[in-house]
Amino acid sequence: MDLIEIVNVTKKFDNFTAVNNVNLKIKKGEFLGLLGPNGAGKTTIIKMLTGLLKPTEGEIYIDGRKMSRNNVEIKKRIGIVPQYTNLDKELTVYENLVFAAKLFRINKKQYSIKIKELLEFMELEEYKNRQVFKLSGGMQRRLMIAKALINEPDIIFLDEPTNGVDLNGRRRIWDIFKVMKTVGKTVIMTTHYIEEADYLCSMVCLINEGKIFKNDTPDNLKREQGRYTIEYFDNQNGQMVTKYRHFKSKEEALNHVPKIKNFHYTVRETTLEDVFYNLTSRKVV
Ligand SMILES: Nc1ncnc2c1ncn2[C@@H]1O[C@H](COP(=O)(O)OP(=O)(O)OP(=O)(O)O)[C@@H](O)[C@H]1O
Ligand SMILES: [Mg+2]
Repeated sequence: MDLIEIVNVTKKFDNFTAVNNVNLKIKKGEFLGLLGPNGAGKTTIIKMLTGLLKPTEGEIYIDGRKMSRNNVEIKKRIGIVPQYTNLDKELTVYENLVFAAKLFRINKKQYSIKIKELLEFMELEEYKNRQVFKLSGGMQRRLMIAKALINEPDIIFLDEPTNGVDLNGRRRIWDIFKVMKTVGKTVIMTTHYIEEADYLCSMVCLINEGKIFKNDTPDNLKREQGRYTIEYFDNQNGQMVTKYRHFKSKEEALNHVPKIKNFHYTVRETTLEDVFYNLTSRKVV
């Protein structure tokens, strides 16, 4: 049985259809990436999964139970890093975490231990008495992740969790997400950093205009595209443009090289970014 089931879900805002008849099953322990251009419907899907928005049509089941705003039992098992900040900027780092712990009715003895652990884990200890508005954007993101983990959730929703985080910070956060993955948490993440999805996700869903048009492992998607890519400059109506050709094997790619011998080229492995670019540039008008 799948842990999460989205069945024929549509979300309309007045006459506008943001999510259009989506069906999706997510297994326990899966690290799922929702990828798609701005406005594709990713955040709307996450909001429905976490009970913040009600589907206009269709149902969402988590662990066999229908998800709704009032499903407290499921909500206790969920952690959310929303796309936009959910921190109280006037409060300190520590106070924000205490506030979150109290919402889950965690007692002081327990939350003191948990907060200490999370501050260390997210490398925020030295800032614990600093008001949030005095933190950098990346530090605030790390605090949002700590906050999402306060109740030791087994299902975690991450909506662009590393947006605006610098390279080192991002790598650190990836390590944390890898730990979640190895301990068997179920994670649903949206991101515009495709290499992030490639690195972390066991499954990716490609979404456009409220519809899922691909749902597969990064590996299968790359195989389908062609494992090897030749990237080269070509003259198109007097303008030099980068072109991409995909091939099943390195051999096939290399055999193609003489045809483009007059230009600079690279033969490399296909990335998820190639797949995404290819599919969305065809899909998005
Ligand atoms: N409360 C709302 N009222 C009206 N329209 C909305 C509302 N929330 C979202 N939308 C619309 O629904 C569509 C999907 O929005 P959503 O936030 O889910 O996109 P997204 O895929 O998360 O995009 P991004 O990558 O920019 O975060 C957009 O066209 C958006 O304008
Ligand atoms: Mg969004």
